[in-house]
Amino acid sequence: MRTMVTKQGVLLLIIIYVVVCHTKEESHSDRVYNREVSGKEHFENEHHNPEYDHEAFLGEESKTFDQLPPEESKRRLGIIVDKIDTNKDGFITREELKDWIRYTQKRYITEDVDRQWKQYNPEEKLTISWDHYRQLVYGFLDNMDPSEVEQDTEGISYRNMMKRDQRRWAVADADGDGNLTKEEFAGFLHPEETDHMRDIVVLETMEDIDKDKDGKVSLKEYIGDMYHMEEGEEEPDWVKSEKEQFNIYRDKDGDGFMDDKEVKNWILPDDFDHAEAEARHLIYEADSDADEQLTKEEVLSKYDLFVGSKATDFGEALTRHDEF
Ligand SMILES: *[C@@H]1O[C@H](CO)[C@@H](O)[C@H](O)[C@H]1NC(C)=O
Repeated sequence: MRTMVTKQGVLLLIIIYVVVCHTKEESHSDRVYNREVSGKEHFENEHHNPEYDHEAFLGEESKTFDQLPPEESKRRLGIIVDKIDTNKDGFITREELKDWIRYTQKRYITEDVDRQWKQYNPEEKLTISWDHYRQLVYGFLDNMDPSEVEQDTEGISYRNMMKRDQRRWAVADADGDGNLTKEEFAGFLHPEETDHMRDIVVLETMEDIDKDKDGKVSLKEYIGDMYHMEEGEEEPDWVKSEKEQFNIYRDKDGDGFMDDKEVKNWILPDDFDHAEAEARHLIYEADSDADEQLTKEEVLSKYDLFVGSKATDFGEALTRHDEF
């Protein structure tokens, strides 16, 4: 009896964890750096995005899987399962799955940096200069009428983007020689991955959200960043729950605003491990006998959770906000 209760308790904790993570930590999809495990947002317009799981699990390879017929994608998934099960005991534990997701994530970032480094530095020089990068990315501004350039496209002016990039470039330039090495360029492209780049990520986020430029984020600005109420429209439930999130979790000191420390805590939480959360999520979704580990059969029977498929996405129904 005792073990039964414990097991149910553990299961309940896992369910709470998954629910809390997916509403609290990952719902503000444009901001929170869940990009660490995938380039896709885990939630798009608050709906579960299965492509996020596929990319977290497979990296770039998820595109290949999208093209495969179900039988072939199952066969390949079986091979991956064997790889993930490093101690070959027939079970995938959360640790093993987490290690795999970390490995996939590292590979994803390395490949992205390799690709962009080649693109901006085809001659494979040791460094690239800001002028060179600026010319390639924003050079088109030089031939534009200044009045056109200043015009905002959905609130974004290219000139501002360029200024922001230049500032980020300077922070990425650790040795301060004006040029970026490949390693420094990686920090420029993926600042959330690099310790000394984190403050600039927070600053950029602040600038985006803090519309009245008072150096802090109000509830109105926080909601305004993701939702614009139409005339006569009723406020959706997820917006109500975001407001609660703000008051309970974001504005920790309860002064009605998020300061930069609170913003940092929100978008780059120290204690939040994305690979761990994703591993828990996948196990929760596929673990039919609730023993907290996965057999190959369990993975294969939920193969559309792990790899691309044109079949229906059962995951969506389970994790939609309004189902809670
Ligand atoms: C920076 O890059 C430019 C253009 O490639 C090059 O001429 C210059 O020597 C580089 N400077 C340093 C300090 O590497």
